[in-house]
Amino acid sequence: SISNAVANALLDFNPVPKNLNDVVTIPEGYSIDVLYRLGDPINNFTSEYKNDGTDTDFNNRAGDHHDGMFYFGMNDEGTAKDLNNSNRGLLCMNHENITEIFLHTEKEWDNYDRTSRTAAQIDKEVSAHGVSVIEIKKGKNGFNLNKNSVFNKRITAQTPIDINGPLQNHDLVKTKYSKDGSQTRGTLNNCASGLTPWGTYLTCEENWAGYFKRSNSTLLSDKKAASTQNRYMGSKESDGSYGWANSKTNNDLYDRWNIIPNAKQANEDYRNAANTFGWVVEIDPFNPTMTPRKRTALGRMGHEGAMPGNVKEGEPLVYYMGDDSKGEYVYKYVSRLKWNEKDRNGGLDIGNKYLDDGKLFVAKFNEDGSGEWLELSMSNEDIKSYKKYSFDDLGDLLVNTRHAADAVGATPMDRPEWAGVHPNTGDIYVTLTNNSKRGNSMQLDASNPRYYSDTKNSSSRDGNVNGQIMRIQELENNPSASTFNWDIYLFGAQADANGNINISKLTDDNDFSSPDGLYFSQASKGLMWLQTDDSAYTDVSNCMMLAALPGKHNDGGSKQITNKNVPTNNNQDETITTKVGAEASTKNLKRFLVGPKECEITGIAETPDGKTIFVNIQHPGEKTKDLKNASLYGSNWPDKGTARPRSATVVITKNDNGIVGS
Ligand code: FEO
Ligand code: CA
Ligand code: CA
Ligand code: CA
Repeated sequence: SISNAVANALLDFNPVPKNLNDVVTIPEGYSIDVLYRLGDPINNFTSEYKNDGTDTDFNNRAGDHHDGMFYFGMNDEGTAKDLNNSNRGLLCMNHENITEIFLHTEKEWDNYDRTSRTAAQIDKEVSAHGVSVIEIKKGKNGFNLNKNSVFNKRITAQTPIDINGPLQNHDLVKTKYSKDGSQTRGTLNNCASGLTPWGTYLTCEENWAGYFKRSNSTLLSDKKAASTQNRYMGSKESDGSYGWANSKTNNDLYDRWNIIPNAKQANEDYRNAANTFGWVVEIDPFNPTMTPRKRTALGRMGHEGAMPGNVKEGEPLVYYMGDDSKGEYVYKYVSRLKWNEKDRNGGLDIGNKYLDDGKLFVAKFNEDGSGEWLELSMSNEDIKSYKKYSFDDLGDLLVNTRHAADAVGATPMDRPEWAGVHPNTGDIYVTLTNNSKRGNSMQLDASNPRYYSDTKNSSSRDGNVNGQIMRIQELENNPSASTFNWDIYLFGAQADANGNINISKLTDDNDFSSPDGLYFSQASKGLMWLQTDDSAYTDVSNCMMLAALPGKHNDGGSKQITNKNVPTNNNQDETITTKVGAEASTKNLKRFLVGPKECEITGIAETPDGKTIFVNIQHPGEKTKDLKNASLYGSNWPDKGTARPRSATVVITKNDNGIVGS
């Protein structure tokens, strides 16, 4: 059959060697182009990006730190959705964060002070966050941005967004901006993403918690609010990541980042502003005038992404989600309504049906390879009897999703990042990127089984240094099952590490560390892309992307791992038995790409025919401390010479017009 022919041809490329070059390295037989860089104008009335810190107007330019993305096909005329079209479409992508130094001039950077910011600098940084929707069109030279498209737009950390689901009009999201709790401004720290069968984009808010100015939580008279702050932001006072509340100009635009109560009523100040972040947000790229919606039924956390299970008529829609912080959890959302194929052509109102009303579950991984999805609802006895936080109603529970997950006894994981669902087997794969606390202050367990301390002894080489990929098989492959089986599909490691660390037997052709992005190609079913965000192995190679063909659940059987001198075990050795996937080989795992210096590889999208992929190169040169000497920039990619580095989207095709990854 055709699908077998495709399957046999996958991974038929020469693996890319690890390297520290300031370029994107891809296999021979492939071509690469840069499509969309930080600051690139998205229309014809915005100037070209000078890239010297003087540029403004990021509402009309690419934001920074390109991350999760999806391609949504449109018709050849460019007027409407046609999800099967591989020649013209809308690319939706996240701009997670900023590399501050490269957004400002040398003089501004010399005087950079988080306790006293100019309004213009804050406005620039706020607008460099968020989401891009851009139309791209294939011509003789491949894909290019269509600057004339009416669909091009930026959604930023300042754009009005509706609050939908159980938190709509809830007391906990009422602010001076939206006294009835129906809206907020902005989406923030958009990391990975997701999509719906009706062709809308889901963007996920991850490290929003750092952005708010706050007092020490012990100073709050509202003890529940203090408990929420402690669980999501820590107890300490802060000016917020970039000092956006500390503008020299007194204006509501900046006050909104200050959550310290300063008025009588909650809807007269911004004490609840942080409660309006930490959600999954739905955007309809084909309806540019529609206000995006925060889908609060999917819980509030450091949302990495929201990846759908395989969609089936008559079954609920299911989303798998990681909360990326040390010792946080893996979640599943199951819609109340069952999927109806007639809804394929809808927009945000279809989202109201499936994403505003459903059940939220959190994962418990048992030592024997079984697991349970524990429901987070007001009728759960563990929620009702929880001593550390008393939940008033479902809205309160969802704002405090982490407290609720604590209450039911979920398993603390090694930083859950992306999830992906195998299109053939239905198995769910979740990257657990690393966790410096594992074995140090968090006990080892079967689902987080590794600890080591490197003699080189930088702080990033202690704990679970290299990360692993969890695989979940729902009971009877039913996505709404309440129990599952799990194994660890693959362990990150350096090729030369010993067998208790390099458990998957990685070699120079496929070794990696800190898995993060994970995506199953829908075109060539069974091909999985794996992207890294590493700090442990970056003396040997820049971050990378690998292609994988995962096998069956637990195809590696049982494994004993002996961890040396584990601090949580009184510095004694600790042996953990766990279920694992088959060992790696170049038949099932190969390095496909290595990025430029000091970047992270994150975000991948494909055209429906699988012949074009889009990959995001995030924060090249991020460690740069000084603007004076361009030869000391951590990277000059992609513009070369003495240019400041820029996050950017690249387009990769195979020269023989084949499927990418074959
Ligand atoms: Fe934004 Fe967890 O990566
Ligand atoms: Ca990530
Ligand atoms: Ca990461
Ligand atoms: Ca990142």
